Amino acid sequence: MQSLTSGLLDSVRQAGALIREAWRTPSTVQHKGRIDLVTETDLAVEAALKVSLAQVYPGAAFLAEESAEDLDRAALLAGPCWVIDPLDGTTNFAHRLPFVAVSVGLWTGTGVDLAAVYNPMLDDMFHAVRGGGAFRNGAPMAVSAARQLQDSLVCTGFPYASADDPALAARIAAWIQRMLAATRGLRRYGAASLDLAYVAAGHYEAFYELGLKPWDVAAGWLLVEEAGGTVSPILEDTAYSLDSPSILATNGRVHQAMLDQLRA
Ligand code: IPD
Ligand code: CA
Ligand code: CA
Repeated sequence: MQSLTSGLLDSVRQAGALIREAWRTPSTVQHKGRIDLVTETDLAVEAALKVSLAQVYPGAAFLAEESAEDLDRAALLAGPCWVIDPLDGTTNFAHRLPFVAVSVGLWTGTGVDLAAVYNPMLDDMFHAVRGGGAFRNGAPMAVSAARQLQDSLVCTGFPYASADDPALAARIAAWIQRMLAATRGLRRYGAASLDLAYVAAGHYEAFYELGLKPWDVAAGWLLVEEAGGTVSPILEDTAYSLDSPSILATNGRVHQAMLDQLRA
């Protein structure tokens, strides 16, 4: 695991350098959907990660955002598989807001056992090893100790689909209203992997979002659990999985109170 971890961290750092280099020149932005963007940097980072990670774990499969269409996910996830978001926070990147990350989780058939989330603009590296703890820039990190929602800073995200789905937008708006009343404040930073890393690091007591994809959450899920937090779906009474249609990640202490608010 030690050499896998250092190989992953090296790969993710190199990938992050590509984002840093691209920062100074204008990007070519293409639309995957009306507001869902992709740039040449998303594609270049993904390609670079596939080359470097193939050397770190020969034979492991890839489930990577920009090349995930038409793949048989169940078959990929039957064995070891790198789950990759090459550039999480593409809209932030397009607007040069420095809340962007490279996110990579190693799925081993039953769960994510190794994870890294790296913000190259802040040179901030988060990683976790199943059973081995969670770390920020090499130092152990843990979720916050807050117990009350009124002492909690909460983060959320808005799925691209909410722009064209009034019922979804209404649910999101109702939740915002509840959060404003019940918590210390609500944030929307625009990179789900970093949002999860910030729960793991104790900045946020909770993060929730609907409609995230496996590559948005694979790494952050392990970060939160290894930092002592709790991850579950919001509305479903099932264990969290990569395919869960919703996510609530907390410091554990405010988990039930968040569920009560979001399910009310
Ligand atoms: C998006 C970001 C954003 C979240 C969206 C994601 P992308 O990922 O994580 O915070 O709200 O749901 O799709 O497109 O920037 O990789
Ligand atoms: Ca993403
Ligand atoms: Ca992305």
